[in-house]
Amino acid sequence: MNLIKPNSFVGDLIPYIPGKPVEELEREIGIRDAVKIASNENPLGPSPLAVEAVKEAVSSLNRYPDGDAFYLKEKLSSKLGISPETLIFGNGSNDVIDIAARTFMKPGDEAIFGEYAFIVYPIVTQAVGAKAVISPMPDYTHDLRDMYSRITEKTKIIFIANPNNPTGTMVKRGEFEWFLDKVPEDILVLMDEAYFEYVDDQDYPNSLEYQNTGKSILTVRTFSKIYGLAGLRLGYGIASKEIISNMQRVRQPFNSNSLSQVGAIAALDDKEHIEKTKEVNSEGLTYVTRELKKLDITYAPSYTNFVLIDIGDDPMPVYNSLLREGVIVRPVMGYGLKTHLRVTIGTAEENDKFISGIKKVLGK
Ligand SMILES: Cc1ncc(COP(=O)(O)O)c(C=O)c1O
Repeated sequence: MNLIKPNSFVGDLIPYIPGKPVEELEREIGIRDAVKIASNENPLGPSPLAVEAVKEAVSSLNRYPDGDAFYLKEKLSSKLGISPETLIFGNGSNDVIDIAARTFMKPGDEAIFGEYAFIVYPIVTQAVGAKAVISPMPDYTHDLRDMYSRITEKTKIIFIANPNNPTGTMVKRGEFEWFLDKVPEDILVLMDEAYFEYVDDQDYPNSLEYQNTGKSILTVRTFSKIYGLAGLRLGYGIASKEIISNMQRVRQPFNSNSLSQVGAIAALDDKEHIEKTKEVNSEGLTYVTRELKKLDITYAPSYTNFVLIDIGDDPMPVYNSLLREGVIVRPVMGYGLKTHLRVTIGTAEENDKFISGIKKVLGK
């Protein structure tokens, strides 16, 4: 047989492996009430206001969505205090990241990202035939000085997840400002702020505040995390009009669906849901990290809704034993983190179930 072959970049691309669905685990092991704390989702569910809006919009599903997301664009740009022309939407923020890669890179170009940075960066880089330039992450944190030192004539995009997934760590304001001051204007600094709303730290550099510094910054955010709308798929990017208009040429015409648009408009107003989510997360993070400390399990400092723990050994036996306790966490070996697991902060009950599960599994 001589079937069509993928292009040379795609042949050895390692596909993204999502967290295990609860239903799959329950089916496989024959248990009930399993908890999934593996995909950094909102444990309180979707914004109730978004659910209502989506229900109402279902009867119009025969229509194509507004490809330009006019009402959402108006709403979000006024909330953020930016011009609507500086906004682009995507089928999740992954789509926005992908559009950026396809807009600004070609085969032979280079992209810089951290060794434990979000896994979608190597995928989109490789898919366009660009070269991945990897920067070490001491203490699990992006090292912007090292990233800067790796810039060449061929560098097109520098990806920085802040906070980063799967490490949960944060780049601080001073280091970011040092980097931004130095970085050439014609390199896209992609600031992936998927967990922006969770960060509660004076030292956090909100990349939106640096949009007018004359550098090529793309701020990327999502409705998948704090708004609880991961299944609807909606993310967005903010940059100069020039950057956004170039990206608009590349995006698919209907890459934000109609339900996601109305859901997002409603979710933006759902202050109660956002506040409650932040509160539950902050209490949960404090509880989980305190218990981990008591158990002598090391973890990376987290500024977000998950924590990276170091088992100090092959994590798969612990992962599998936790599954049998009805707790789904996330192995992160694909990131080169060979002794670690990533645990999403859940509701108080879910966090309890994880802590008692890990105590039992580790015999502590
Ligand atoms: C750092 C980071 N960026 C982007 C995404 C993509 O999110 P979505 O495509 O659901 O907006 C995630 C999701 O886990 C993430 O952790």
